[in-house]
Amino acid sequence: MHVERHADYAALSHRAAEIVAELVRQKPDAILGLPTGSTPEGFYAALVAMQISLASVRTFNLDEYVGLPPEHPQSYHAYMQKHLYQHVDVRPKNRHILNGTAPDVEAECLRYEEAIAAAGGLDLVILGVGHNGHIGFNEPGTPWSARTRKVALAERTLQANARFFGGTGPMPTHALTMGIGTILGAKQILLLASGEGKAEIVREMVEGKPRVEVPATALQAHPRVTVLLDKSAATLLSR
Ligand code: GLP
Repeated sequence: MHVERHADYAALSHRAAEIVAELVRQKPDAILGLPTGSTPEGFYAALVAMQISLASVRTFNLDEYVGLPPEHPQSYHAYMQKHLYQHVDVRPKNRHILNGTAPDVEAECLRYEEAIAAAGGLDLVILGVGHNGHIGFNEPGTPWSARTRKVALAERTLQANARFFGGTGPMPTHALTMGIGTILGAKQILLLASGEGKAEIVREMVEGKPRVEVPATALQAHPRVTVLLDKSAATLLSR
């Protein structure tokens, strides 16, 4: 794991956008795995500000809530529209997000895995990390071989994300997510963490013993992972 400590959230967001822009310069038709959550908002803003063309890029989002239609304001479809797609030239046919309202969930997850494989596999996956170590929506206990599937959200995740659902109805209890195996299949992984609330899980992820109880520790086994931190997220690292 290559760990970079940046001065603040703006600096780490800008660095993440630079890494993506560099990949797209080298490989205009790069296959990107994209995150949601509050952490990547600055990264998307920085990427948009760079005004590079993403016209040949293909994107696959990590996850989506079960039961939320794309037009629901808290769906990850809506999130992506707001933070990225309305500002850039990624072609609609090249934007992939799991359908949380698919009638046949298993078929939907299989279709997604097949689409990633048919595209040639993920070149770069960008991740945030949950307080309990989840990546995508792979909660503690997920086997590292897991592929895209339906999962139940952990209590801690429900609590953390409830703030987004204040005025927009009850929060979904399940999600569709790329598996840890799907994520580890990417050629390169970038993980962003910001703020002191993430310091403990960052320490676990970088310096802790790899174990299924902390999904993000699976990344230690991947040959090309860059962890971008701001100062506060890095405070508990020993080196
Ligand atoms: C969400 C997403 C994850 C994200 C995590 C952290 O539930 N499914 O992909 O990394 O929680 O979110 P935040 O960046 O808001 O702390």
